[in-house]
Amino acid sequence: MTVRTYDDDMAGMMRGKICLITGATSGIGRETALALGRMGATVVFTARNVEKGETTRDQIMAVSKNEMVDFLECELSSLSSVHDCCTKFREKYGGLHVLINNAGTWEKERKVSEDGIENTFAVNHLAPFLMTNLLLDLMERGSPARIISVSSGLHGGTVNFDDVEFKTKFNAMRAYRQSKLANILFIKELSRRLTGTGVTANCLMPGLVATGLSRNARAFGRAFFRVFGASPEKGAVTSVYLASSPETSDISGQCFRKRKVVTTSKESNDPALARRLWKLSENYTQRWLPHEEGLDLS
Ligand SMILES: NC(=O)c1ccc[n+]([C@@H]2O[C@H](COP(=O)([O-])OP(=O)(O)OC[C@H]3O[C@@H](n4cnc5c(N)ncnc54)[C@H](OP(=O)(O)O)[C@@H]3O)[C@@H](O)[C@H]2O)c1
Repeated sequence: MTVRTYDDDMAGMMRGKICLITGATSGIGRETALALGRMGATVVFTARNVEKGETTRDQIMAVSKNEMVDFLECELSSLSSVHDCCTKFREKYGGLHVLINNAGTWEKERKVSEDGIENTFAVNHLAPFLMTNLLLDLMERGSPARIISVSSGLHGGTVNFDDVEFKTKFNAMRAYRQSKLANILFIKELSRRLTGTGVTANCLMPGLVATGLSRNARAFGRAFFRVFGASPEKGAVTSVYLASSPETSDISGQCFRKRKVVTTSKESNDPALARRLWKLSENYTQRWLPHEEGLDLS
């Protein structure tokens, strides 16, 4: 039986739920936002390009016949932009039931963000780390709530603490694999810290999906994605499942593929590595993290 992201019997299933999805202007995020919109959720997504955000919002509204679709401008490589986006989200919505850290990038060459941080690490790991921490109190207050991170089967190696930004020898694949390992380590540590709060944290591997992710890859890589990748709709199945299914409401700290819990690398299950990465991420984002009025998750 083909598993679909959305079926008519899912209509209304997410009514009353506020979902925030990063990077829904294309690929897996767009299909996830569309499915959740069709399920009746209030769907808010981030877009770095306002024009693309408006077009995507209008398309999702039209197809889902759901007026409660909105976007917030956010350049995820910028910590201040992530912070501003979260402030706007709090002002406008004041509650959050599902946060999907979906956006991701593959950088062919080493690029640094406006904060001077290597882009893969900034977008794929620090942005979700900061955004989650800035919105966590909203989720706890309105629990049950779910946090979902889109990792990858390519996660691997370890965290290169001596040179996490690959300043000396940049390698696109190693930078990407490290960032996707970081997604899993983050979710494992977050889930541990969230025990008893009613907020769950899980991650997923969507498989190979024909999306814009390969836009920066070499010609062979782009062709490989195009030919062998699943459709973005299929790629969104597990994101939508984790966001909405009653079956997963009490599961936390796991990684899913094709809607099933899967085993991930030895390093991704190392709690000491996860704690060390958390500390490093705090150091990077210190200035923007909630201090007084916010959370103490230590
Ligand atoms: N495709 C695959 O085979 C595959 C496999 C495993 C895991 N994944 C993961 O799946 C997630 C979604 O990727 P996708 O495949 O759907 O790729 P995609 O089509 O390229 O979508 C990525 C989304 O992230 C946004 N984004 C990228 N960099 C950004 C930045 N600096 N600031 C703000 N937004 C930014 C993009 O915005 P724009 O539209 O403005 O570019 C887009 O909306 C990623 O985390 C990726 O690592 C993908």
